Formats: sequence, structure tokens, C-alpha cells
Amino acid sequence: SALHIGVDIGGTKVLAAEVTASGEVLRTARRTTPGRRVELELVEDALTEAVTEVADGRPVAGVGLAAAGFVDAAGERVMFAPHLPWRGEPTLTRLSNRWGTRVALDNDANCAALAELELGAARGVDSGLLITLGTGIGGAVVLGGQVVRGRNGMAGEFGHMQVVPGGLPCECGLTGCWEQYSSGNALVAFVRARMETEEHSGGVLDELAAGDPEKITGPAITAAAIDGDELALAAYESVGAWLGVGMAGLVAAFDPELLVVGGGVSTAGDLLLAPARTALEESLVGRLHREVPQIVATAFGAEAGVVGAAVLARRLTEAR
Ligand code: BGC
Ligand code: NA
Ligand code: ZN
Repeated sequence: SALHIGVDIGGTKVLAAEVTASGEVLRTARRTTPGRRVELELVEDALTEAVTEVADGRPVAGVGLAAAGFVDAAGERVMFAPHLPWRGEPTLTRLSNRWGTRVALDNDANCAALAELELGAARGVDSGLLITLGTGIGGAVVLGGQVVRGRNGMAGEFGHMQVVPGGLPCECGLTGCWEQYSSGNALVAFVRARMETEEHSGGVLDELAAGDPEKITGPAITAAAIDGDELALAAYESVGAWLGVGMAGLVAAFDPELLVVGGGVSTAGDLLLAPARTALEESLVGRLHREVPQIVATAFGAEAGVVGAAVLARRLTEAR
């Protein structure tokens, strides 16, 4: 059967995977994202390496790209990306020429929503919102059982809704964006700020940092929180509560059936979702007079993006 590859291009890492029609992830390859101020070539090289490793000499029917950025309405270019160097280059054409194969492109969270709709936690759902917490916040709006892309292709950029006027600076150039308070970056910022400004108990995170809070990463905080570390748990309380506050705004706007939460930060499960539920209930308008939507985890976990990207690739070749 034909080989379809999904590639998830996030702010910190690239994950490529061979995915079957039923959403099973077979061979995978990973690379570190070269950075957001680098030459575009470096990012394309990393994608090429990952795809080549997964293909392993076999002919490729199609590649789907799930990019952490603002993809144009035609699905050909990443017009802007807070954590990546793309600024409107013809990525689809460049990569399909380079690879000699068909390529599809969409926003990473939109791809994750597609995977969950077709094969995962949102099957049969008419209205839903997907929120991924990784480097930033990814979002997707599902209405009428479809991912809504908006006029410019840029619907669902929940991470850049302002939640704190005059708040923390964001990589997008604005300030007070939601993803500065609820994301992997927000977890790290919370822990580093506590380490720099306050006395605290000296848990595993202090050992890891060894005097240098810059050494702290999101996955380290997630692992420490799961182990019960106090500082890491406080970071999760904060990020979880901010998640619920933002969700309340989104639920007020869309009144969806379901909220699906994914991304690396969400692997801590209820450490994130319990404070989110509480904050959602406290901040939701008319809460005594409505049903509060259920919050569920993505069925595909950290692989939702690659699975959705492969679904896109498959659509492309099957439509031929
Ligand atoms: C970007 C989105 C992306 C999200 C998650 C945000 O900062 O603006 O396009 O979906 O991060 O990767
Ligand atoms: Na999106
Ligand atoms: Zn922003």
C-alpha cells in the first residue's frame, strides 16, 4: 500500500511519521527545530532529513505538513510563524519540487483537529474546539463537523488572544497573549521566575538547573510535576487555571459540544485539566443556565499533528 508521511513542525521539534489509513503510526523520525531566526534552508533541510529517514528508500505517495504557523487559505505558504522563520515563502512548491512528491500543508493544530475528527476523540462531533499546549497554544475551530479555516486560512489562532492588557511580550510581537500564560513556554517562564525571585524548597528542578534556571525545559517540568515536585505542581496549577480562563472566553464565543486538549503539556493529564475545569466553570458566563462542555484529551496525544498531516496527504492522493 502507498506510503503517506505526516510531518509535525513545532517550535522545538520536528516529528515525521509513516501513518496508515487507520491512523496507526509506524516508522518515525525526529529532529530539533533549527530555530526561529535561522535561514529557511535549515528548516527545509531538517524536514528533508526526517522525511528521508522515514521513507527509507521506499517511494512516497504524499507528504502532509503540520506547521506551527499561519498557513494561507490556499494551503501553500506559511505566511507568519511566531516560533519559526517562515514569512510567506512558497513552501509547498519548494518542497514538492525538492522531494518529487505531492505535498499538503496546514496549521499544526488544524491537522490535530482533523485527526481527532476523522479517527480520534472528536469522531461524530458537530461543534468542538481543539487546544494544543506545546511551545505555544495551537487552536482549531470545528463547526458543522469541519475545521474552519477562515478568510486568510488563519482562524483558530487562540494563543494570540490578549488575556492580559500590557502583559508579557509574545514571540508574535504583541503583548499579553494567552500562550504566554498557558503553554510549555509559560510553564518554563513560571518556574524560572520563581527560581530567580523567591525562596523555594529545592526540589528536583533545582538539581536539574544546578544554579542556571535557563537549563529548565517544559518536559522536565512535566516529569517533575508527575513526580509530585512542589514548584512544578505550582506551575501546572497556574498554566491549568489560565487554560480554563481562556476556554471560558472561547466557550462563550462558540458554545461547542466538546473541548479537546492536546500537546506536550497535556501529557500531565489531570494536573493540567483539573485546574482548567475549575477555572472554566468559575469564569464561564451563564454557567448555572447551560451545560459546560466536556474537556477530553486528544486520542492521538503528541502524535495528533502527524496523524492529521498524513490524513491531509492521503486526501490529496486519493482525490486524484
Ligand atoms: C502559533 C500557531 C501554532 C501554535 C502551536 C502558535 O504560537 O501561532 O500557529 O498552531 O503556536 O504550535
Ligand atoms: Na489553527
Ligand atoms: Zn502572541
